[in-house]
Amino acid sequence: MPDRILVCVAWPYANYFLHVGQAAGAYLPADIFARYERLSGNEVVMVSGSDCHGTPITVTADKEGVEPRVIVDRYHEKILEVWDRLGISFDCYTTTLTENHYRTTQEVFLRLLQAGLLYRHTQDQLYDEQADRFLPDRYVEGKCPHCGYEEARGDQCDNCGSQLDAVDLINPRSRITGATPIVRPSEHFFLKLTALESELKEWVGKQAHWRRNVLNFTLGALNEGLKDRAITRDISWGVPVPVEGYDSKRIYVWFDAVIGYLSATREWAQRAGKPDDWKRFWLDPAAKSYYFIGKDNIPFHTIIWPAMLLGYESMNLPFDVPANQYVNFSAGQKQSKSKGTGTWVLNLLDTYDADVVRFYLTHIMPETSDSEFREEELIRTNNDVLIATWGNLANRVIAMVHRNFGGVVPAAGELAPESAALIAEARQAFETVGSEFHHCHFRGALGEALKLAQSANRYLDERAPWKAVKTDTAHAAETLATTLNVINALKTLLHPIIPFSTARLHGDLSQPGTILDAGWQYQPIAAGTVLQPQRALYTKIETEAAVRA
Ligand code: MF3
Ligand code: ZN
Repeated sequence: MPDRILVCVAWPYANYFLHVGQAAGAYLPADIFARYERLSGNEVVMVSGSDCHGTPITVTADKEGVEPRVIVDRYHEKILEVWDRLGISFDCYTTTLTENHYRTTQEVFLRLLQAGLLYRHTQDQLYDEQADRFLPDRYVEGKCPHCGYEEARGDQCDNCGSQLDAVDLINPRSRITGATPIVRPSEHFFLKLTALESELKEWVGKQAHWRRNVLNFTLGALNEGLKDRAITRDISWGVPVPVEGYDSKRIYVWFDAVIGYLSATREWAQRAGKPDDWKRFWLDPAAKSYYFIGKDNIPFHTIIWPAMLLGYESMNLPFDVPANQYVNFSAGQKQSKSKGTGTWVLNLLDTYDADVVRFYLTHIMPETSDSEFREEELIRTNNDVLIATWGNLANRVIAMVHRNFGGVVPAAGELAPESAALIAEARQAFETVGSEFHHCHFRGALGEALKLAQSANRYLDERAPWKAVKTDTAHAAETLATTLNVINALKTLLHPIIPFSTARLHGDLSQPGTILDAGWQYQPIAAGTVLQPQRALYTKIETEAAVRA
């Protein structure tokens, strides 16, 4: 029986171009994981969408003097372009503006209300008298009460990661007028996190398989004690509160965004013509859900969303939340660029092939600590790792089969011990690399796959088929057939990371169907197979040409 796996990926705010850090932190790991699980025969649904509500969007819209919708439409298109060009294989990528999402959000809201987990409470809010409006979340800036950082925003401190209440900021100022806000009472709905605290603690206590940083952060927050949180705002852009007298308020963006995982799965099922199929991923405890996010999103996915799900009852809680650290950009790099333009994904894809970008970002994936993006390193990794270790291996061997065997895969004959050992290593790699992928260790998976490529390179150098072919054709045939089989294995092993070039290679090796059809297993290439005319898999990057001024 295949496993059912729901791959949930953080919903990017549709107010900006997608950043390389977001790609390396959430979208690429999610995609690699989804591709691996599909390859190994599991049923995968991968969902996300553009996060279209809240002050991140309205602040941008205000700045440009346009309606929020204009901002959302513009950046949603650009985000879709990234998925297409970078090869992020969503089963459903939607937005939080759909009718289905509004309905689902209001349904969850009402269910929690009925369960007694939402209550009304009047609280002081910051108010800008000059602009004559409330200042929720990002409309206000001030000093963080926890770490003293001067530019903390009303919802969160970017320096220490604390979630904040705008009223707790020290020396708050309005981002609309710069004025010092006054406080004014306003009624809101609150989520009773305090009532769910012990249940949450018990559940988190059982998640020993989570990454250390995710577990520690979450346990730390739980041990400090949870506070009930307002889940509505004095704002006019967002999902309407399905309760009378709340026309001037909207549901808080974070409350609706996390519900997006559920509404997007429903949309996927609807579009697939099996409207009830989402239940197999949310209501059946045998299905597992993974949430790919950056570390700043941890509390929303390990505390608030699980609390909402516990309150809703009978919905699957996250199985894993493999949150990543950050990708930093070196100061030198920034200075040599006009405003760090090289850090947007689309920008990078204008210069480099998607697989080159994917390979490098996997190489530096910030799984256990922050990592650093450097364009010179991307180029070096392309030339000295992707090409030197993997691309050249495939190229050399295919070229020799063309040159010496007319492009027809020779029979290997009886295998010498070193040939048999290499094949055994290739078979074993499906276990080792697969286990790394399955446990969301993507750097590890890449490293293990490259080890096999290195073994194949050593084997090739030792047996020197380019020499043997002149004196001992059978020896050369054995070497080339053996190495081709390892290349065919590596094609599959690397496919989740570099899907475009490996799919091309699959065709060039005249293998039937797609890599997905072939599945996660060692499959030798039949002797007599006629290879396609050779073409280079990758291109060496000349440094001067590549690094833009
Ligand atoms: N839009 C948020 C951000 O960019 C992430 C939302 S993730 C979700 O930080 F869980 F709410 F969907
Ligand atoms: Zn702080």
